[in-house]
Amino acid sequence: MTRIAAVALFLLAVAYAQKPKDEGWTDLLPAGTDRDLVLNSCNSCHNMRVVVDARKSRPDWAKCVNDMIQRGAPLFPEEIDPIVAYLSKAFPPDLPKLVNVNTATKEDLVKLPSLTPEIAARILDARTKAGPFKNAEALRQALGMEKPDFQKISALLKYRD
Ligand code: HEC
Repeated sequence: MTRIAAVALFLLAVAYAQKPKDEGWTDLLPAGTDRDLVLNSCNSCHNMRVVVDARKSRPDWAKCVNDMIQRGAPLFPEEIDPIVAYLSKAFPPDLPKLVNVNTATKEDLVKLPSLTPEIAARILDARTKAGPFKNAEALRQALGMEKPDFQKISALLKYRD
């Protein structure tokens, strides 16, 4: 192999190994038995933003996963059902849309089932003092909340569009 070919191969390998930046979207994947399977199968070409933003019925998630296989997602046949089951439970059509904490109005925030007007007011206050927030952890610290309490309110909050 020539030196140039070796360098080219090396660069190609680096490009392949590089995953898209997470940007905190994986935080929005709810706990579940097959969360890791979804995470490992679905974040090599794009990060999880497209996944956590999507709202689909079970047949539409099945179609989507099939579409990803056509695009090259390396799944074993027996992995398809668990992935579709996880996604249709986590992101069904009637799940409210994600709300961007850094730009939301109070009305946007209280639309989320997890947010009382009191918490919404605390978030806006924290944003004025310490925002914009880079990620969930930054918001949690600004609110001074314990992790379990914060998890109850943060399921549908995003930090960038
Ligand atoms: C081989 C690369 C690859 C892998 C792996 C992959 N995707 Fe995708 N995905 C794409 C591409 C390319 C697009 C952009 C398609 C478009 O919108 O034109 C996309 C777009 C999407 C979208 C937005 C479009 C839509 O149908 O709503 C969703 C949702 C999605 N992917 C989910 C998944 C899930 C779930 C997995 C894991 C099972 C996954 N992807 C794995 C390549 C991939």
